[in-house]
Amino acid sequence: MQRKQETIWWLRKRDELLKVAGRHLNAYVYDLESIENAARDILSMRSVSRVLYAMKANFNADVLRTLARSGADFDCVSPGEVRHLREVLPDNAKDRILFTPNFAPRDEYEWGIKEGLRVTLDNLYPLKAWPELFDGQRLFIRIDPNQGGGHHEHVVTVGKRSKFGVSLSELDELKYLVGAAGATVIGIHAHSGSGINEPDNWAAVADALIEAADRFADVTVLDLGGGFGVPENRGDVRFDLSALDERLMAFKKQHPKYELWLEPGRYLVAVAGVLLAHVTQLKGKSEMRYVGVSTGMNSLIRPALYGAYHEIVNLTRISDEATETVTVVGPICESGDKLGTDRPFPRSQENDVILIANAGAYGRVMSSSYNLRDIPPEITL
Ligand SMILES: Cc1ncc(COP(=O)(O)O)c(C=O)c1O
Repeated sequence: MQRKQETIWWLRKRDELLKVAGRHLNAYVYDLESIENAARDILSMRSVSRVLYAMKANFNADVLRTLARSGADFDCVSPGEVRHLREVLPDNAKDRILFTPNFAPRDEYEWGIKEGLRVTLDNLYPLKAWPELFDGQRLFIRIDPNQGGGHHEHVVTVGKRSKFGVSLSELDELKYLVGAAGATVIGIHAHSGSGINEPDNWAAVADALIEAADRFADVTVLDLGGGFGVPENRGDVRFDLSALDERLMAFKKQHPKYELWLEPGRYLVAVAGVLLAHVTQLKGKSEMRYVGVSTGMNSLIRPALYGAYHEIVNLTRISDEATETVTVVGPICESGDKLGTDRPFPRSQENDVILIANAGAYGRVMSSSYNLRDIPPEITL
């Protein structure tokens, strides 16, 4: 299941990328082959019955088609995502979608039910305030397993400081409200955070969900969510899916009644995407050296929002030695418009092509036209 560490795709496909950069000042480029490989790895886990791609990570049409072809289903968090998926994949069956809104208005649940989608509730409020909506419905319930983590506090989705999920302490009330509404619980769901690298996390989540699942006779599915970390630096090892599979097989042995589902976003698409830009200006300020590039936090907000690390290389001078330490900045009027800080870098020149790696997840989808700058086009290889 785990492929050997291979040369990074954007080094292998450097010539193609330079050609794209010749046509576009800035561009998101996705390598569909890398997405297929990641999908094959995770879909071949023996312990897992379904993999639902969390399309919030990247809703590019070619990316969605590639994942559907590879056998992934989809996790959608808004009616907009469901509609977009339908436009791109008109033949995609409804039962390949899990609809997981949170703190959404009443009419979104009503819409999801009318559309015949599998709906997840992540709060008791809908059952208390709108029980009539759920009469006769077969529901998933998102539980806060109080077990998880993440690469930044903004992506930790468990614990009392996180807005997500029904607490384990609310299970009695949940059971009562589900019964009173006339609904049936068929799946228990959790998403414990993003950018987690320890395979044990999902086994612990599964253990935590059993307490909830065992209260409802019709539950057949435990959806353990996404959050699998990806390598940040060249040479970092990939998430150990084999170890995860082993842990989950052991869990299934103990609890054979339940199917396990996963919901990865980042794992499937992060490494497959890069953001290309060009050097615009260079500057020295005291001991600081700045390399200015043609797009910034408007295209990729993760460094500003999460302090996320993205490898940055000068693709034009890929073989040149790093002789200086630079901070790579964009053209946005914000001091936080930094794509990378204090990076070893070769001496660069105006118009050199710069590549920002691991930009396939939560990149283009979080971009904006702040400062009325263009959002980069998306190109697929
Ligand atoms: C409910 C749910 N499932 C899955 C994911 C995917 O997470 P990741 O991209 O870290 O795998 C998220 C991310 O926010 C989520 O909220």
